[in-house]
Amino acid sequence: MVPHRAELVILAINRIERGVRGEKQLCVQGDLCDLKLSFANIRFIRGKKMSKLKNKVAIITGAASGIGRAAAQLFAQEGAAVVVADVQEKQGQQVVQDIQAAGGRALFVRTDVTIEADAENLIEKTLSAFAALDIAYNNAGYEHVEDAHTLAAEHWQRQIEINLTGTFYVCKHALQHFLKVGRGVILNTASISGFLPSPKRPAYNAAKGGVIMLTRNIAYEYGSKGVRANVICPGITLTGMTEGTVTSDEVLAQASRCAVLNRIAQPLEIARPALFLVSDDASFVTGTSLFVDGGMSLGGFRSG
Ligand SMILES: NC(=O)c1ccc[n+]([C@@H]2O[C@H](COP(=O)([O-])OP(=O)(O)OC[C@H]3O[C@@H](n4cnc5c(N)ncnc54)[C@H](O)[C@@H]3O)[C@@H](O)[C@H]2O)c1
Repeated sequence: MVPHRAELVILAINRIERGVRGEKQLCVQGDLCDLKLSFANIRFIRGKKMSKLKNKVAIITGAASGIGRAAAQLFAQEGAAVVVADVQEKQGQQVVQDIQAAGGRALFVRTDVTIEADAENLIEKTLSAFAALDIAYNNAGYEHVEDAHTLAAEHWQRQIEINLTGTFYVCKHALQHFLKVGRGVILNTASISGFLPSPKRPAYNAAKGGVIMLTRNIAYEYGSKGVRANVICPGITLTGMTEGTVTSDEVLAQASRCAVLNRIAQPLEIARPALFLVSDDASFVTGTSLFVDGGMSLGGFRSG
């Protein structure tokens, strides 16, 4: 007996909601009609919101604190299995426990992004735990505040290694998997400092500027292979990184004045635009740099 059209539609919706991977569109053929169902249609048909990262697997480097931690929690809430990659083991494990306690899926993989073997291991552990990798979000970062004319070589190198070379290593090994499966999403973290000079941060400026061009290169080279790559450029955000420099109300007020919104960001305010860029909502967005800076890039670094 040929099933009724409505039954075919329900069957198809159930199949997609059970998480049949790789089927962006199902053709339902009945005796009277051919019906194409896309995810967007199904959201409309069901009249309820599906999670933005349902059945996705996302690596987030530097996810033990700050923006990375906020993104790990948000991505997990949106249905992703999240791999927390960081050098800080205790804090990273805590993020995983918090996600699991809230009903999400997460794994900690100790990763120093400056070591290529760690980046390779990160991809391998992700694939063996979750049998997939959809999103690589390179968020780990580090800054050292000092003028160029006194900056020691080791401080220069450390900032280039963590911010730029580490991003490259994870991109390189994620790309090898993305090329095998014919799809993948990269999100790299630069900064407003990859665009505007910031005081006493020559290496950080150079590294973050490099991250922007590295990402544009990847977007350009691998777009035709199904890979999207974008950059997020946060403005000043209250995290572990800024705790050391925003030490008083006066400094906080000065930092706030850098943004035309006259305040600094909370980590979730960076994580939400990151979610947009890694999700299918941004399916036609690649090679772009999204400034999430409260308007700081409009006026540069204002002081006083
Ligand atoms: N906070 C800001 O104002 C601001 C502004 C612009 C850009 N950013 C960028 O946002 C990203 C997140 O920074 P945050 O503000 O949340 O700071 P954070 O210090 O809270 O987090 C950075 C994380 O990176 C991890 N990390 C450092 N070195 C690593 C390494 N070698 N391997 C793996 N992990 C490593 C740290 O352990 C930490 O968990 C960074 O790339 C930073 O440069 C931050």
